Amino acid sequence: MDHNERMIKRQVLGVGHRAILRYPKGFSDVVLEEVTTLLNSVEQKFDPEIEVQATQITIRNIGFANLLFLAREATTLRDILWQIDCGKADTMKRLKTRFQDIPWPIYLPNPCKLALRVTSTRSRIFHEGEITRLLEKAIVAKCPGVNLVSLRGSEQLIDVRLFEDHLEICLSLGKGALYQRGYKEVLKGTASVKEDLAQCALRATLSFVRNFKGRDWIPREVLVPFAGSGTLGFEGLFTFSGIPKSLLNRNLPGDRLPCSPIKTVGHQKKMSINSALNSLPITTKFIEIDKAQALALEHNSNSIVAKLGLKDLELNVYHQDFFAMPPSANKNVFFPLNPPFGERLGGDLNIKSLYQEIGRFMNTWQGSGFIFVPMLELIPAFSKEIPKFEIEMRPINHGGKPMTLLMFTMP
Ligand SMILES: C[S@@+](CC[C@H](N)C(=O)[O-])C[C@H]1O[C@@H](n2cnc3c(N)ncnc32)[C@H](O)[C@@H]1O
Repeated sequence: MDHNERMIKRQVLGVGHRAILRYPKGFSDVVLEEVTTLLNSVEQKFDPEIEVQATQITIRNIGFANLLFLAREATTLRDILWQIDCGKADTMKRLKTRFQDIPWPIYLPNPCKLALRVTSTRSRIFHEGEITRLLEKAIVAKCPGVNLVSLRGSEQLIDVRLFEDHLEICLSLGKGALYQRGYKEVLKGTASVKEDLAQCALRATLSFVRNFKGRDWIPREVLVPFAGSGTLGFEGLFTFSGIPKSLLNRNLPGDRLPCSPIKTVGHQKKMSINSALNSLPITTKFIEIDKAQALALEHNSNSIVAKLGLKDLELNVYHQDFFAMPPSANKNVFFPLNPPFGERLGGDLNIKSLYQEIGRFMNTWQGSGFIFVPMLELIPAFSKEIPKFEIEMRPINHGGKPMTLLMFTMP
């Protein structure tokens, strides 16, 4: 065993770790449920403790392999920041020593393209540029093949936070890959929902619906009326059929670290393929009025079916106007609704009448689902049309704008 292998055993594989989970604002409960379910499904070498704070969840004492597993399977997370060092840093000298003492070759692939994200708040050392320079020098001295690049072109990300003279150095186990699933080969259209937000909305609504329909309720069909690039329908596959997310996103930044246990990672990948065999068949129907958008969606649907390799998976794209569809009442249909905000929909439909019209359609379809509502005055426009439905709302942030997630179900 060489020096680095001993270090990996002592500092990575043989101890419990601290990690910070990032996710869309306002969904701590949904994320907590997914994370605890995932952690309960695997063997724990340590005894992890989970703490929910206002905008993040911190896990302490978790085994490194299980952190990689979370990064592989969790669908609601934007990133997992694995803390590799922390401590007091109130002078430049202290900061420099901390950076120099980190055994970088066990953490960073050599060569690799690395991004640094540095923030300093209420601290004696406040010059973020200077901190970045010191950090870069310390890393390159030990890993000469590391190439510092901007976040966009990077393969790995180090996040450094100095808060009230306390330093926290984390390595990202996801770096964007946690929410960019890689299922959109053809990119078309705008206003698409971020995948982690889509998951949080789907899972929050599933819990809400289960309060009325029983704790094991699952929709048989997902109908996506304003499909766009299809995010809400594709994400529904992970939420409702239990297809593991890792079937699509097989190589994460965390898998490539020198300290990542290759055999364990391989075993986790095999397990996810096995669990896909137990996934539930669900029909997904995408309705999209724009031809180019519908064609892109069809291409992406075919490639997702090919990539997943599950023959029972049914993804259908309908190039048509949702409002021209003959409604059929079926309480097992789920509608994730992201209407075209602001845009005039031909004819003289303005946004208020659009929400009223969608409400009327939902009333005849009798299903369950959610709708993103960009303005408070649109809430009654929609909800008045579904008087017999149960409703629940949450404030969310979609595309940088505050909105309401309105969940509905016909009990
Ligand atoms: C806000 S975007 C949806 C974004 C989508 N959720 C995503 O993540 O990409 C609205 C989409 O609805 C489509 N659309 C608008 N009116 C429609 C209608 N009456 N029937 C079907 N699709 C419609 C638009 O062409 C557009 O692609």
